[in-house]
Parts: sequence; structure tokens; C-alpha cells
Amino acid sequence: MCALVSVTQNPQHDQIAVADPGVSGRRRKPKLGPLLPIGSLVAAILICAGIFIVDGFNIQTLLVALRSLTKVSVLVFILVFVTRPLHDLVRSSVTTWMLANRRYLGLSFAAWHLMHWPILGSLMALEGPALFWKYSKDFAIPAGCVLLVISLMAATSSNRAVRFLGKPLWSAIHTVGLYTIWVWFFRVYWLRLPKHEIHGYVNLGLLAAALTFRWAIGARRIMTKKS
Ligand code: HEM
Repeated sequence: MCALVSVTQNPQHDQIAVADPGVSGRRRKPKLGPLLPIGSLVAAILICAGIFIVDGFNIQTLLVALRSLTKVSVLVFILVFVTRPLHDLVRSSVTTWMLANRRYLGLSFAAWHLMHWPILGSLMALEGPALFWKYSKDFAIPAGCVLLVISLMAATSSNRAVRFLGKPLWSAIHTVGLYTIWVWFFRVYWLRLPKHEIHGYVNLGLLAAALTFRWAIGARRIMTKKS
């Protein structure tokens, strides 16, 4: 039996409140949302383990693992990036669910993408800090800052963090963070042009389309409010 889930929105604060009164006397269905980040982390670890078991634990397989996990993370990121405008446009039960669970979708992205930390740590251990720095010195510091931003966003994805930081500061961190991640993804794929695999072109197109869509729906919302 489905649990009753009602979603109310406060347009001024861009907040959503999820009420799940349950059905008295009946067992509640486990919610999918909170399981998403855990499932993502388990899947990411299993993929890495599979790669290392089959081809060994070395620099090449660490790079393969990094590329494989990022292929998923960028798609999850795009989903999070368009969740609100998509809901504004469509208002279906699926987009309502996505909006209500946007926190968990965001944490799922973090689970896939923050695997960068242990993999980069392993690369540094195998190559040695000097060689690691030689290959990554052009981007390691800004890219490392973006990874820190993702880590900060993941660490503050809770009601307690919203209360502690206050809604305006929390929103500012998460909005600036979202665009920072978009910029870095776009940069990574843009800099690899034109010697890209096909997924690089697809991801560049999806990132550009997601930004255009987000801004177009945002502009429409502003125009509707004015008239
Ligand atoms: C200190 C920070 C970072 C370092 C040292 C780093 C390093 C790397 C390395 C070595 C790879 C594998 C490249 C290859 O084998 O061709 C990779 C893949 C990738 N990284 Fe990072 N990265 C960092 C942070 C980030 C951030 C913050 C993002 C985006 C928000 C990002 C996006 C990507 C993407 C999209 C790929 C896969 C590209 C593909 O599809 O082939 N990285 N990274």
C-alpha cells in the first residue's frame, strides 16, 4: 500500500516540505530516496572492485575506474541540475518525487563523484607525490577546490545544516556550488575537444542544454511573477 506523500512548496523560499503521515496501523513502505546515495556508493565501490579484480590494481585501472564513475556522476549531476525547472514545467508525479528527493539525488551524485578522493589518493600513493603533481599541477588546485565544494555540499545536505547556516547562506552555498560544478564539468569536456570519445560530445551537449533549460524556465518564472 502506498504511503501518502504530499509536497507543499513555498515559492518565496524555494523550500519544499514533505509530509508523510503514513497509514495508521499499516507498515510503512521503505522510502527509495534515502536509499539512493547508499545504493550509489555501494554500486561505485562494486564497479571499482570489479575493475581491480579483473585487471589488477594499478595506475591504468585506477584511471579506468575514475573515468567509469564520472560517466555516471555527470548524468546524475545533470538530473539534479534540471530537477526544479523540470518540475516547474511538467509537474508530474515523477518530477514531484524528484523535487522532494532532490537532496538524495544530490547525495547520490556526491557518492559517485567523491570516489575521486580515494582513487586520487591511491594514484598519488602508486605514482608518488612528485609524479602525481607533475601530471596534475595545471588543474589539481582548482579541481581540488571543486571537490571540496562538492564535499561541503554533501556535508551540509541535512535539515540540521540548513538550520545551523540559515536558509539564505545555505541556499547561496548550494546554488554557487551547483554552478561551480557545472562549470568544471563543462571545462573538463571542453578542453578535450576535438579528440573526444562520443560520450564527451554527448555530455557537453547535455550540460549546455541543461543550463539553457534552467535559465529559460527561470526567466519564464520571473516573467509570470511580473505579469
Ligand atoms: C584534484 C582534483 C581532481 C583531479 C586530480 C582529477 C583527476 C582526474 C583524472 C586523472 C581523471 C582520469 C583522466 C583520464 O584517464 O583521462 C579524471 C577524470 C574525470 N574527472 Fe577529475 N579530477 C579532479 C577533480 C574533478 C572535478 C572537480 C570534476 C568535475 C566536477 C572532475 C571531472 C572529471 C571527469 C568528467 C572525468 C572523466 C572524463 C571522461 O569522461 O573521460 N574531476 N579526473
